[in-house]
Amino acid sequence: MKISIIGTGYVGLVAGAVFSNQGFDTCCIDLDAEKINLLSSGKSPIYELLLEEQISNGIKNNTLTFSTRYDSIPNSDLVFLAVGTPDLPDGSADLSYLYSAIDQVSKLIKKNTILVIKSTVPPNTCQNIKKYLEKKGLENEVVMNAEFLRQGSAVSDFLNPDRIIIGCSSPEAKDKMLEIYKNWRDVPKVFTDTTTAEMIKYAANSFLATKIAFINEMADLCSYFGGDIDMLSYALGLDKRIGHGCLKTGPGYGGSCFPKDVSALIHSSKDINNHILKAVHHSNNQRPGLMVEKIKQIIGELKGKKIGVLGLSFKANTDDIRFSPAIKIISLLKDSSINAFDPAAMDNTKKALPNISYAKNPYEAARGSDCLLILTDWDEFKDLDYNVIFSKMAKPVIIDLRNLLDHQKLKKIGFSYFGL
Ligand code: UDX
Repeated sequence: MKISIIGTGYVGLVAGAVFSNQGFDTCCIDLDAEKINLLSSGKSPIYELLLEEQISNGIKNNTLTFSTRYDSIPNSDLVFLAVGTPDLPDGSADLSYLYSAIDQVSKLIKKNTILVIKSTVPPNTCQNIKKYLEKKGLENEVVMNAEFLRQGSAVSDFLNPDRIIIGCSSPEAKDKMLEIYKNWRDVPKVFTDTTTAEMIKYAANSFLATKIAFINEMADLCSYFGGDIDMLSYALGLDKRIGHGCLKTGPGYGGSCFPKDVSALIHSSKDINNHILKAVHHSNNQRPGLMVEKIKQIIGELKGKKIGVLGLSFKANTDDIRFSPAIKIISLLKDSSINAFDPAAMDNTKKALPNISYAKNPYEAARGSDCLLILTDWDEFKDLDYNVIFSKMAKPVIIDLRNLLDHQKLKKIGFSYFGL
């Protein structure tokens, strides 16, 4: 079976690389020529565990090619669309990249080629695409195949999903989707209509975002009454109906999915009173401001203060800073002088925050600072030599907004430690 994948972001690139490693003849298409050149040389444009290995294997086995052109479309059995659907200023999803890809593809597809939407799209989008194609005289099937991979563990999430969701109506489309996922034997496959498949993706992300907003508010309550949020979260998660996932408190959820998907679902259902989603969105938006208030309560006025920052990406194991709470918090700390370090996200942050200083390692970030802020949960921050950090800081204060570090060990060294 031959496939084309349009869009080489996280979802498209991981899907393309993995499918090519399963032996499918795969062409990944993107308009960005620089990216395509890099990918053709076997290099990944994004920081993602195992991805480069999958890409170079695919190229070596002659099952994976990259192109800026749509030449592979006429010979493809399945065309996956994995272009971005970013949020517009009103919170709705911008489908212009998707429709422009569909315009290109529709000029070239065979009669029985199936279009598979991997992008996250609002409910009824697949039906609307089907109607759009019909107006062009095309009868091609449109399948919704939502993706649940997380950045930082995208390849292993793709290889080991909890379930595979396929929204389609014809037996032919179902057979082709079963063929492409034939090696995912033990994974539950949910076949449903396209609208339900679209809803499942939004509901999953919204529910996980709700869990995070909830645990963050529980952290505020623990702080008010005097309780241990990590213990609370552990005990809560032992209830199998609740589970441990997305119960770690922090500075709020970020990234390219949760913020935009919650907004898009609120927007798509604006005629219906969506109380929970609006509250989650509001709670998360307030979080960076609350974090800054907490910092000010500890270190006092920001003016004249030097703050060392560890962590810029929206979470560990990625260089992505989209909707990163770290970036919002730093922007709100503008009256102080910031010296920041991140293992992967420095280059991306330099474009977004050109006016702060960047340290070449965590120890340099701490040098001369009045406090050290932990903003991203990188494991390597746990293993630093905090005796060295203690000796470099002007005041030994650590504010850990990820509850990442061993506070007893730090207190023994002499730090004043503040977690959530
Ligand atoms: C998410 C979904 O998990 C994934 O299924 C979907 O396909 C895309 O969106 P991702 O954005 O990569 O994946 O990251 P995730 O690990 O879910 O974290 C999202 C945000 O929530 C991060 O900012 C993270 O730090 C925060 N988070 C996550 C918490 O604050 N606490 C948690 O317990 C989990």
